[in-house]
Amino acid sequence: MTKKFLITGGEGFIGRNLKYFISNMGYEVKSLDIEGNPDYKISITDFNSLMSISEDFDAVFHLAATTAPPQFDDDPLYGFHNNADGTLNILEFAKRKNIHRVIIASSSVYGNSNSISIENDVVSIIMCKLKYPYLGFNEFLHFKWK
Ligand SMILES: NC(=O)c1ccc[n+]([C@@H]2O[C@H](COP(=O)([O-])OP(=O)(O)OC[C@H]3O[C@@H](n4cnc5c(N)ncnc54)[C@H](O)[C@@H]3O)[C@@H](O)[C@H]2O)c1
Repeated sequence: MTKKFLITGGEGFIGRNLKYFISNMGYEVKSLDIEGNPDYKISITDFNSLMSISEDFDAVFHLAATTAPPQFDDDPLYGFHNNADGTLNILEFAKRKNIHRVIIASSSVYGNSNSISIENDVVSIIMCKLKYPYLGFNEFLHFKWK
């Protein structure tokens, strides 16, 4: 049976490209977002709506986030809630739905570089294993799925 993936933030910059890439590889892929025209128009902060998703997935690519620094300036509490609570919701959703992999993109994968421009294709950013702790989620994932 073909693998099926869920991309949160699937209407965003990386999410759109990843969805295209994964479906071209022959896998099934569904998107979740609060903008655009996703398969699931659901917020990652709405745990009950997440749990109403009845499809099974092999893995979740978690890319939904408040990403623009000005958004944090305008409303830091919402930015924190969206990214921290939203991510915990996705982890709990995955646990309860028996999804064994949650892949998270982090700029920490670049390490401490002095270079202004870093050449990277989208997939290598996403697939890169977290090398450094990022808000403690690295340890959290390890704890949940060891
Ligand atoms: N773009 C990069 O160069 C880069 C590099 C490293 C890490 N990242 C990380 O990858 C992730 C995706 O980045 P991007 O550039 O695609 O960002 P983006 O802003 O283009 O996309 C984020 C998507 O998340 C959606 N979203 C926001 N809040 C949501 C919510 N509550 N529920 C559902 N969807 C929600 C937005 O509508 C948007 O479509 C982010 O976590 C970002 O920090 C990006």
